[in-house]
Amino acid sequence: MKGLLIENLTAGLESKVILSDLNLFVPDGEVHALMGPNGHGKSTLANVLMGHPSYTVSSGSVFLDGESLLDLEVSERARRGLFLAFQYPAEIPGVTVSKFLKRIADLRREPPKNASAFLAELKQNLAFLEIDPSFVNRYLNEGFSGGEKKRMEILQLLTLKPRFAIFDETDSGLDVDALKIVAAGINRMRGQGFSALVITHYRRLLDLVRPDAVHILERGRIAASGGFELVELLEKDGYDGVRRLTGTAREAVYAS
Ligand SMILES: Nc1ncnc2c1ncn2[C@@H]1O[C@H](COP(=O)(O)OP(=O)(O)OP(=O)(O)O)[C@@H](O)[C@H]1O
Ligand SMILES: [Mg+2]
Repeated sequence: MKGLLIENLTAGLESKVILSDLNLFVPDGEVHALMGPNGHGKSTLANVLMGHPSYTVSSGSVFLDGESLLDLEVSERARRGLFLAFQYPAEIPGVTVSKFLKRIADLRREPPKNASAFLAELKQNLAFLEIDPSFVNRYLNEGFSGGEKKRMEILQLLTLKPRFAIFDETDSGLDVDALKIVAAGINRMRGQGFSALVITHYRRLLDLVRPDAVHILERGRIAASGGFELVELLEKDGYDGVRRLTGTAREAVYAS
């Protein structure tokens, strides 16, 4: 079946297991939300999916449209259309935004787009995201404000047109107008051939990007899955509300 399938994934650092027997399926064409308490493994999952070398996978499998990902290098995963919008986007001094975007766009397209077509599309995307065109001549993220960095992640999204995107708290630090722009960017990608996992702590982005499903990651595994009512429950009663729903005691969660 088309989509991202994670089966029995156990992974972490050499010294520490962070994800434990995690199962998740995001079908083609769907956007799922991933929520969960601080430090329970959301960013770790994002990094493991991308193939970050610091993390070790001890068991389980990950398939994108039926193809196994775990043996592939980071660049190979990117070529297959996996994309991560970082919780903390890195500054890349010496590489301008336009050069960076052309590089990542070429990675996905065979043969690469010609320069004028690339620039025309870039101009459209900049206008759509209300990014000042002068940004493309600056070094990537260097000196960018927190919100500008997040908007830059969405510019990468629209340039790359990935098969599967992971947004790690892309909503954090955004002003209300920027939040709408980021949501519009994500919504513009929706449809067959695109799926995403939106990691967030709050409902405000999810009010704009209505997810097809919502998952709660706790203690390195999916503790609950459902629809938008999970987001509302969380807002109202916190994680204890979710634990009551699943019959898990807080003590049990924090003891292990
Ligand atoms: N490089 C590392 N060194 C030490 N501990 C790490 C490292 N990376 C992750 N961890 C630990 O793994 C656990 C999971 O971290 P992770 O960043 O995945 O949490 P999270 O769910 O994304 O939290 P948040 O909501 O705060 O972003 C945390 O206890 C964290 O301290
Ligand atoms: Mg995180």
